[in-house]
Parts: sequence; C-alpha cells; structure tokens
Amino acid sequence: MKRYARITGTGSCLPPQRLTNADMVAMLAPRGVETSDDWIVERTGIRARHFVADGVYASDLAADACLQAMAAAGTVPQDIDLIIVATSTPDMVFPSTAAILQHKLGIAGCPVFDVQAVCSGFIYALTVADALIRSGTASKALVVGSEIFSRLLDFNDRTTCVLFGDGAGAVVLEASDTPGILATDIHADGKHTGILCVPGHVSGGQILGDPLLKMDGQAVFKLAVGVLEDTARAVLAKAGKTTTDIDWLIPHQANIRIMHSTARKLRLPLDKVVVTVDQHGNTSAASIPLALDHAVRQGQVKKGDTLMLEGVGGGFTWGSVLLDF
Ligand code: UT7
Repeated sequence: MKRYARITGTGSCLPPQRLTNADMVAMLAPRGVETSDDWIVERTGIRARHFVADGVYASDLAADACLQAMAAAGTVPQDIDLIIVATSTPDMVFPSTAAILQHKLGIAGCPVFDVQAVCSGFIYALTVADALIRSGTASKALVVGSEIFSRLLDFNDRTTCVLFGDGAGAVVLEASDTPGILATDIHADGKHTGILCVPGHVSGGQILGDPLLKMDGQAVFKLAVGVLEDTARAVLAKAGKTTTDIDWLIPHQANIRIMHSTARKLRLPLDKVVVTVDQHGNTSAASIPLALDHAVRQGQVKKGDTLMLEGVGGGFTWGSVLLDF
C-alpha cells in the first residue's frame, strides 16, 4: 500500500501583546520615525501584529502551538517520532530550537532539527517531513514555524519595522494510506542574499556586523510575485491538478498586494485566499501554519479541502505544498 503524509491537527500561538498601527505610530514618534495607519494598510494590508515579552523564546511559542496541534490530532507527545522547527530566530546559536522544544514537550529520543529558510521555512520543513514519513523514517511528526522577528527589527527604519510580528504555528503530520500531501516544490537562489538579510554574526564573544533586519522591499516584492506564480504552477503540474482544484490558497502573509497578485495570476477568486496578514503582520516561517490554524478554527478550511501553501523569503527561497486536508 502506498504511504502518504497527512495533516491531522493544527495549532498556533500568538503572544498576548498586540500592537495596532496606531500603537506603532505612537511608539515610533518619539524616535522621529514617521509612519501612519493609512500608509501601512494601503501598502501592506497590515493592521496589527503581536510582540513577545522579554524572556519568551521561539521554543515557548512553538510548545504552545504544538500542544494545540496534538490536542486537535488526538495525540500525545510520547507518540511523536520527529520534530522539525522552521525558524530564523532560534533560542540559541545551538542547540536547535527543536531540541529545546522537544525537552519542553517532555519527550526524548526522536530526531529533531531546525530548518533555516526564512519565510519559506515552513514549506521547506513540511517538504522534508513529508519525505521522511513517506520513506518510513518517521510516522508522526510535529512540523512547526516559530518566530520572534520583533527582536531583529530596527525601530529607526520605518520601511521594515512596521511589517513584522511574532508567533508560531504547528501541524501534526502522520503516515496515512490516503493523501495527504500531493506534491511539494522548493527552490533557492543565493545570489539574492543581500535583498533580505540580518548580516550580523557571533564571533569571539561579540556580535560582528549589523544584527538587525535589512530589506530592499521593492526588489523582494518583484521577485516574490514572479516565483510564487512559478512554484504554484509547478506543484500543480507535479500533482496532475489545475487551479480549479484549489479550495484555499494559504500564502506566506507578507503583503496583501503580493497575495492578491498571486491569486489573480492563478485566476483564483480572492475569497479563496486565507488572509491573516491584517492581524498578524509578517511572522516569517510562522505565517503559513498560523494562517492555516486560524482558517481551520474559523471553519473556513474543512477536512477534504485541497490547499495550496506557498512561501517566499530570504535566501532567496521559495516553494509550495499542495495537499488534501
Ligand atoms: O517575508 C519575506 C517577503 N517580504 C516581502 O514580501 C516584502 C515585499 N515588499 C513589500 O511588501 C513592499 O515593498 C513594502 C511594503 C516593504 C514597501 O512598499 P512599497 O510600495 O514598495 O513602498 P516603497 O518602498 O516604494 O516606498 C514608498 C514611499 C517612500 O517614500 P518616497 O521615497 O516615495 O517619498 C518611503 O520612504 O513610502 C515611504 N515609506 C513609508 N511611509 C510611511 C516607507 N515605509 C513607510 C512607512 N510609513 N512605514
């Protein structure tokens, strides 16, 4: 019998501190940094984002999201035999956030590791977990995106600091004799490193280089709209499906204009696009599983729906996953 990987539960976590655009305007004004609710909403679709408190780490948000996902799947930590965390904001340089998460969930022994593909991280993590489950290496995985981008933001740079937020999303991915994940498609092109990066690094007990996020927004925007259409068409072709088979498009939540542009290129009605960027901002690797969990809990996404998940981000990286939920 053919072996597939299927999502059996979703979960998410947003830190309690919620900042509206008006809160950002008030926070930035004393620094002489001017922005407005109108500009942020019109250019990005963002209305609010969540920021963690001091002392909270990516593994904490991930643990809450995983507990919800396992409850939804009717499973317990002791049944998990693989954990993959997609993050660019790990708790430590090493060990992996996945190792710290594993211990917080009270389990030991199963393989755990992080995936670093910035905003495409969850798509990469799901692709790897799918392959490990189909090969028989794992049977029940936690696949997580967890980010604390607020700690990377330069609050003197209005072109980036209003865009990002913190959060986590998780899924339980299980072996199944019915699909499940239908096809995956991942890519990267490292020549674009400079358009979206945090260039600093740790050396000799110090941070060398700038440890804050840098982005050439227009360059990222242009690349994103092109590659998102390409990967959507590629993953559909691999699965032998067409855009009319898609019930929901769940894209990386960076900018409503990019999401709508992708939908239009695929001739998908805009009401088939799951949108959470307005309430979460861009949560990097967490944005897709967060959006998925919200759509499931709001009754938008239902069992049996065909979902197209799509990510794009630093690296440059991009990719998509087509699945039957
Ligand atoms: O997660 C990875 C993927 N990331 C993305 O997909 C992000 C892709 N890029 C974008 O979403 C958009 O490029 C941005 C939202 C970052 C910027 O939008 P834009 O329409 O490309 O704006 P722009 O950079 O062309 O700036 C337009 C104007 C500039 O003023 P001038 O030069 O025309 O006078 C900026 O200085 O808007 C100004 N501006 C702002 N004004 C008020 C930039 N940021 C702000 C701000 N508030 N926060």
